[in-house]
Amino acid sequence: MNIAILLGSVRNNREGNKVGKFAKKLAEGRGWEVEIVDPVEYELPMLEQVYKQMKTPDEKFVKIHNILNNADGFIMVAAEYNHSIPPALKNLLDHYHQEYYYKPTAIISYSSGPFGGIRAAEQLKLICSELRTIPIPISLPISKSHESLNDDGTSVNGDYERRAEKFLNEFQWYLEALKNQREKRIPNN
Ligand SMILES: Cc1cc2nc3c(=O)[nH]c(=O)nc-3n(C[C@H](O)[C@H](O)[C@H](O)COP(=O)(O)O)c2cc1C
Repeated sequence: MNIAILLGSVRNNREGNKVGKFAKKLAEGRGWEVEIVDPVEYELPMLEQVYKQMKTPDEKFVKIHNILNNADGFIMVAAEYNHSIPPALKNLLDHYHQEYYYKPTAIISYSSGPFGGIRAAEQLKLICSELRTIPIPISLPISKSHESLNDDGTSVNGDYERRAEKFLNEFQWYLEALKNQREKRIPNN
């Protein structure tokens, strides 16, 4: 399976880097091919035009399009900002549409507080529905990410790798189910 990991924080000293590494290790642990889409690396500007309408898209937009298009599913890494997702993640998502269709999304949320960004995760599920990427029912909230994760993207005492097992099992099921069905047909096509 090809998995695109979408990062959404562009803050200096962001925790998002660690959480992205954690997500990458989880996905690679399942034997999946992983590409990270990091708005910082791509210096993604605020949306001026969606990708589909760009006549001569800049190379970076093409590169992201290819990664999303080739993906069988997405892991979205979302911090909680004021009970919602960070603007850079929404901005990244908004540039594309068909690239997400009928593929599953697994959400890893995090925050510096005890709730691990669950409110952001719930809001992100609504956005995913409009983008026709199917958010899997389980999400993986990481509480106090600054204390729970090490800089190399492992979790302290392996706690979150253990918690991730059911989450990954469910994601894998949706990856397989939707890939099988996409190969048969796409709705309204
Ligand atoms: C603008 C802003 C709003 C935040 N709002 C919340 C919030 O509503 N709930 C929460 O638990 N943490 C909140 N936090 C704390 C973040 O979850 C925490 O700083 C996290 O590390 C942010 O991710 P980042 O470091 O990758 O940017 C907020 C942080 C920022 C910068």
